[in-house]
Amino acid sequence: MNNEIKLVSGAMVMLALATSALVVLPYLQVRDTPPLPGLKPYSSAELRGREVYIANGCVYCHSQQPRARNFAPDHARGWGRATVAGDYAYDQPHLLGTMRTGPDLMNIGVRQPSEAWHLGHLFQPRAYVPDSIMPSYPFLFELKARADRDDVVVSLPAGLAPAGSVVVARPEAVDLVRYLQSLDRSYPGVAAQ
Ligand code: HEC
Repeated sequence: MNNEIKLVSGAMVMLALATSALVVLPYLQVRDTPPLPGLKPYSSAELRGREVYIANGCVYCHSQQPRARNFAPDHARGWGRATVAGDYAYDQPHLLGTMRTGPDLMNIGVRQPSEAWHLGHLFQPRAYVPDSIMPSYPFLFELKARADRDDVVVSLPAGLAPAGSVVVARPEAVDLVRYLQSLDRSYPGVAAQ
């Protein structure tokens, strides 16, 4: 019995140590990090788009954490400088991601600012990148015989638009693109002293 108590208390101590080293200390270290001066808060459309990003599992294939130049060629890939805590001040929950089946998106708003491109790519990634394994998201769009006045019409590359109808973006698609366009950490990574 004596040994069992030692075993259990030893395990509890290890767990407490690990929790403080991996959870509590990092939390205390970064919780009050202010946003960097160049970082803008999200607009309400961008926040709605962020929810669409989460709901559709984009984070399972896309990270939002370019790494330092001495770790990986992320900068050379055009993904931007290594991010720091202040870059995520408005991100709740953060969407760092762990998988990179697709490119890192932390600076996609800089790399690809075009709304038309994003909408077309979400409707059919293979219309733009022939070998893309990214899923298409047709349920974010509507096929209509004719566009109404306020509709956001998706312009697809020639020959790829469905015959006899126009592709119209639903509000979720437009919000998602607003969010993608807002992903821009091209300002300096440390606050000016
Ligand atoms: C199964 C994995 C997967 C999922 C899920 C996924 N993507 Fe992708 N994505 C990729 C791959 C692979 C590429 C690279 C090929 C391409 O551009 O289509 C890519 C490319 C992109 C690009 C262009 C990046 C660049 O640097 O040109 C954007 C923007 C993007 N994805 C947004 C999204 C969004 C938004 C979602 C969720 C609605 C999403 N992706 C879901 C795999 C994925």
